Amino acid sequence: MSKILVLNGPNLNLLGTRQPEVYGHTTLQTIEEACVAHGRTRGLEVACVQSNHEGALIDAIHAARDEQAGIVLNAGAYTHTSIALHDAIASVDLPVIEVHLSNIHAREPFRHHSCIAAVVIGQICGFGAHSYILALDALAAHLDGEAGA
Ligand code: DQA
Repeated sequence: MSKILVLNGPNLNLLGTRQPEVYGHTTLQTIEEACVAHGRTRGLEVACVQSNHEGALIDAIHAARDEQAGIVLNAGAYTHTSIALHDAIASVDLPVIEVHLSNIHAREPFRHHSCIAAVVIGQICGFGAHSYILALDALAAHLDGEAGA
């Protein structure tokens, strides 16, 4: 079983009550439980971490190097600002999939740019909580060595 880290950044601990018209009503705990359950069906052992702190996210990415085979990352607003997260991802030899609940490209212009897009294997956005499930499937396919995945 490949081990996977589902890593969530700032303000995502408030999912369920945070701007539900944008992010839906599903809580982070429900998303994490769904990731663990879905991961099992794909032969993935999913661990989940959330932090509101940039440095803690970087530490989690570094730690994943010794623990996990890949990362599903919703970096929240740090997606749009953090060169440090870009460098952390570039520094570990792990496939990372960038995830967003909302379609960041259909929102305010400042959300259109991702600092991490260039160092991830792909980006999934706009499918609400289901974005995480799609990302796990994409990561499973990537780890299985499927062409193009
Ligand atoms: C988000 C999109 C980001 O722009 C925002 O700052 C978030 C959540 C999403 O999942 O849609 O915190 O990453």
